[in-house]
Amino acid sequence: MQFKLEATDTQSSARAGTITTDHGVIKTPIFMPVGTVGTVKGVHQRELKEDINPDIILGNTYHLYLRPQMPILEKAGGLHKFMNWDRNILTDSGGYQVYSLSANRKIKEEGVKFKSHIDGSYHFFTPENVMEIQRTIGADIIMAFDECAPYPCDYNYAKRSMHMTHRWLDRCIKHLDKTPLKYDYDQTFFPIVQGSTYKDLRKQSAEYIASVGAEGNAIGGLSVGEPAEEMYEMTEIVTDILPKDKPRYLMGVGTPVNILENIALGIDMFDCVMPTRNGRNGMLFTSEGIINIKNKKWEADLSAVDPMGITWVDTEYSKAYLRHLFTVNEMLGRQIATIHNLGFYLWLVREARKHILAGTFADWKNGMVKKLAQRL
Ligand code: GUN
Repeated sequence: MQFKLEATDTQSSARAGTITTDHGVIKTPIFMPVGTVGTVKGVHQRELKEDINPDIILGNTYHLYLRPQMPILEKAGGLHKFMNWDRNILTDSGGYQVYSLSANRKIKEEGVKFKSHIDGSYHFFTPENVMEIQRTIGADIIMAFDECAPYPCDYNYAKRSMHMTHRWLDRCIKHLDKTPLKYDYDQTFFPIVQGSTYKDLRKQSAEYIASVGAEGNAIGGLSVGEPAEEMYEMTEIVTDILPKDKPRYLMGVGTPVNILENIALGIDMFDCVMPTRNGRNGMLFTSEGIINIKNKKWEADLSAVDPMGITWVDTEYSKAYLRHLFTVNEMLGRQIATIHNLGFYLWLVREARKHILAGTFADWKNGMVKKLAQRL
C-alpha cells in the first residue's frame, strides 16, 4: 500500500491524499459504505459502482466468520470474488461487533468468548485467529483485534482495556508475520488507538500505535455515546501524534457534520452504518438538511427527493412517492433511500477533497455544517 499526501488545508488540519493498493486508488478523504455480510444492504454491485462509486467498501470479520463461514470464502477465492467486487475492501476485526454483544461475551487476556447472535453457539476470537480469518476473507486493509470500551467507562477499566488492546496488537503483528497471504494481492494491517475519553490515555495509546510503524492507523472507541465535542477533542489529541505520512481512519463515524469536523482535524477515512441503516428507516441526509421521509409533511410534496441531484434517484422520484413507498412498506423505498444517502455521503467527502485541494476547505466546511445540521 502507498499513501501520498497531496495537500493540507492552511486553516485546519484537513488533508487530501491517495491510497494505492492492488485493488486500485482510494482518493481521500473517503467514506466507506458498510457491507457487513458481503453486501451493502439493498444496493447491488452495479449500482454501487456506477451510481455511488466508492473506491472502497467495508466488510465485517464477525459476521462473515459466522456466515457464510471461512471454507466457503476460501473456496470462492476471497470476499472480492465471492461478492463480485473488484475494488478495495477493508474488514473490521470483530472487536466492535463483539463489544456490541455485551451480554453475550466474556473478555479475557487470551481473547473473547462470544455467543453467536444467529444460533447461540459459542466461539472464541483471539488476536491470532482473527488475523487468520482476515487473511481468508482477503480484504485489502485488515484491522487489529481490539477492545472498544463502552461509554461511559471508568478510568481504571479504560486504562486496563487500552493496555490489553496494545498487548493484543503485539500478538496480531507477531502472528500476521507468520501467516502467509492467501491470494495474489497484498494486505495492509492497521492498528487501532483506544483510551476511551481520557486525554492521557488517548495520548499514550496514540504514541504506542505510532511506535509500531504500521502503514496506516485507526482510531476506535469513539461515537459510542459521548458528546460530539468530546469526540472531536479525542480526535485532535490523537491526530497530533499519529504520523502525518500515513492515512488515519476514524472508525464508525458518523453524521455528515461529524465527518466534516473530523476531516478538519486530520482524518482521512470513515465508515458508518448511518446512511444505510437510517436510510432504511426513512432518514435522508440531503443538501438542505435531514428529512424523515415518513412524516406526513411530505405526503403531497411532489418536489424532487433532493434537488441537488447527486444520484439519479434524487431527481427521478418525488418526496411524496418515496414517502408512499415507505408507508406501504415496499422494498424499493428502502433501496432509493440507501442509494440517495450513500450518494450524498460520497458527494460530501469528494467536495471536501476538492475544497482541500483548492485551499477553500475551512470556509466551505463552516457553511456546510450549518446547513447539514438542520432538520426539515
Ligand atoms: N468500529 C467502531 N469503533 C470501533 C472500535 O473501537 N474498534 C473496532 N474494531 N471497530 C470499531
